[in-house]
Amino acid sequence: MGEVAVEVKLPGQIEPDVLALPVPEDGGGAAANGARILDERLQGRLQRLTQEGELRGELGKTLVLHTDGELKAHRVAAAGIGRIEDLDADALRTAAASVARATEEVGGTVAWLLDETLPLPLDEQARAVVEGIVLGSYRPGRWKTDAHEPRPVERIVLCAGDQAGLEEIGARSARVARWVNWARDLANSPPNELTPEGLAARAAELDLPSLRVEALDPKQIDELGMGALGAVGRASANGPRLIVLRYEPAQPARADLTLGLVGKAITFDAGGISIKPALKMEDMKGDMAGGAAVLAGTAAIAQLGLPVRVLTVLAAAENLVSGDSFRPGDILRAANGKTIEITNTDAEGRLVLADALWYARREGATHVLDIATLTGAMEFALGDLYGGMFANDDAWRDEILAAARRSGDHVWPFPLHRRFRKYVDSDYADLKNSSDLQQASPALAAEFLREFAGDGPWAHLDMSGPGFLERSRGDYLTQRGGTGYGVRLIVELATALVT
Ligand code: BES
Ligand code: MN
Ligand code: ZN
Repeated sequence: MGEVAVEVKLPGQIEPDVLALPVPEDGGGAAANGARILDERLQGRLQRLTQEGELRGELGKTLVLHTDGELKAHRVAAAGIGRIEDLDADALRTAAASVARATEEVGGTVAWLLDETLPLPLDEQARAVVEGIVLGSYRPGRWKTDAHEPRPVERIVLCAGDQAGLEEIGARSARVARWVNWARDLANSPPNELTPEGLAARAAELDLPSLRVEALDPKQIDELGMGALGAVGRASANGPRLIVLRYEPAQPARADLTLGLVGKAITFDAGGISIKPALKMEDMKGDMAGGAAVLAGTAAIAQLGLPVRVLTVLAAAENLVSGDSFRPGDILRAANGKTIEITNTDAEGRLVLADALWYARREGATHVLDIATLTGAMEFALGDLYGGMFANDDAWRDEILAAARRSGDHVWPFPLHRRFRKYVDSDYADLKNSSDLQQASPALAAEFLREFAGDGPWAHLDMSGPGFLERSRGDYLTQRGGTGYGVRLIVELATALVT
């Protein structure tokens, strides 16, 4: 899917390939809404389908009808949006994604009738519809040699009266959603293709205004004393990289603020010597999803030209097994000088983040958010919809929670508490990287990270559940694999920081 144009027009002004009409489940299906006028032109076909029980407005179900010249639109897609009292932005995203899928052999121009009678403001409808169409059109099978290519959606027309601002909101949503899909591509990329060096190359390809990209190689990582990142990456022939992006807009709205985004980018996590079981190990190619999110999020911020300084750091490494692996029992020295006893080489995420957090602070980040597929327990706790967040600062936590609520990347707060610190005490070193306590593993990881997060607001978002799907979520994310979770949240947060 290439660039998608977004326009606002009245239905009479366009000849779309598909005209989508939201149909609620309660209130007589297509009899509600502005649908009645449309249905008159269609000689009551929608009404009859409703009576026959074929059109019920069930969320995520789309019925496609050909028109026979009664309308300028070539097809009408009746998009179920579920019960009105349950309607939210996610429901509209789901309905829009369903339209995109039901008409994937058509593509071209998709028009959507925004509906003032729905309990969601028109600007939120516009955002959700555009996101749903772009995200719902994503296909993960890029590596199939005989793939049947669906026809891409090239233009989205939001049908509304004269609504200044909707077009800009729609166009912006399309851009951001394309970066979400870009992040999904990275997470779905096979680990033989997307090595730490390969990821650095993808970052270097970004050619956006005011954005500089560099990557530190294993030698530079050693020289800076990043003994934790260096150790994790050592077993692989594909050495680690610290990928750094600096977005310096000409006129930042807040001189005192640099948003620091830190991403875990383990391009494959075999667990190291503390090796993982074979079942589903292939999904550990997605252990760089946090890195993909901060990379794509930063790119989106730069493309939108948001007036906020951003410093982004990806800790990229492959956690493998070889004669040169780091071991349980090893004691590492991180860049901030703290020593870490390794008790489990599979708790590698907090190690690479430790050095990346230090680097982000050293380079001037004032407000830090790290995003990582850090613990399996967080996925057990929250499933595939929410990420869990820890923070050392209430205002920063609330800012991120508010941005998350608006963005569709759902976040739930978790407690950071000194109580958990003693479980990462080591008898030999300053800390150990995992505990034998069979409790609170996400909170222990957060407590570990706190030691490296430096001074100032910091939040840690554990996205193990929503970052990479084992199966369709049944909403607008219908595909297995990378979700691009975090990209929309980052853009929303950056926007909020300067408005
Ligand atoms: N990348 C994994 C966490 C993970 C597991 C993310 C499943 C998504 C799905 C991480 O590196 C890991 O292995 N964590 C261990 C930590 C433990 C050894 C303290 C875990 O959660 O089991
Ligand atoms: Mn691991
Ligand atoms: Zn991992």
